[in-house]
Amino acid sequence: MTVQAEQSGAPPADDNDVVALLMRQHGDIRNLFDEVEDSSGDARRDAFRRLVRLLAVHETAEEEVVHPFARRSFPGGEQVVKDRLQEEKAAKETLADLDSLDTDDPTFMPQLMKLRRDVQHHARAEERYEFTHIRRSTDSARLASMARGVKAAEAMAPTRPHPGVESAGANMALGPVAALMDRTKDAVRKAMGKDG
Ligand SMILES: [Fe+2]
Ligand SMILES: [Fe+2]
Repeated sequence: MTVQAEQSGAPPADDNDVVALLMRQHGDIRNLFDEVEDSSGDARRDAFRRLVRLLAVHETAEEEVVHPFARRSFPGGEQVVKDRLQEEKAAKETLADLDSLDTDDPTFMPQLMKLRRDVQHHARAEERYEFTHIRRSTDSARLASMARGVKAAEAMAPTRPHPGVESAGANMALGPVAALMDRTKDAVRKAMGKDG
């Protein structure tokens, strides 16, 4: 939506181009890190839940949609994906540590900054070594079918604040991250026409 494009300062992503969509999500992830850093109390808790959800569905979509394609579609793709999966694993471990902390915990911010560095490094490497090759290695029909998978994943992770978050006791019981990843996998596979 236009609101989002205005907020991120980026032009609206082409909905039929999987690379444009994933790069827009990288921007949304950066914005959510800012939001967590700049808020406190319930607002920070809410922003952090949205960040965790977006990271979970973003990485799941990449693992289901673009990594398998990259692996077989350009020379050296196998190694590029291996390196990216290594980075994703490291980020997920930091995320799991963070997820068990309250956002008011004194160790939360240093851990969040570590996660931010890991995620930024990973996103840059994807854009540089993987996404550029994906665009060159396929046609618009294939980019659009991969985009459908990524959009199905994105629908599982609202990036806007929850209404009423400022009210006391706003409880972000959104379920464990692993379950969200499983549901996202199913949604992506369905959208791309491969069940199970
Ligand atoms: Fe990734
Ligand atoms: Fe990514």
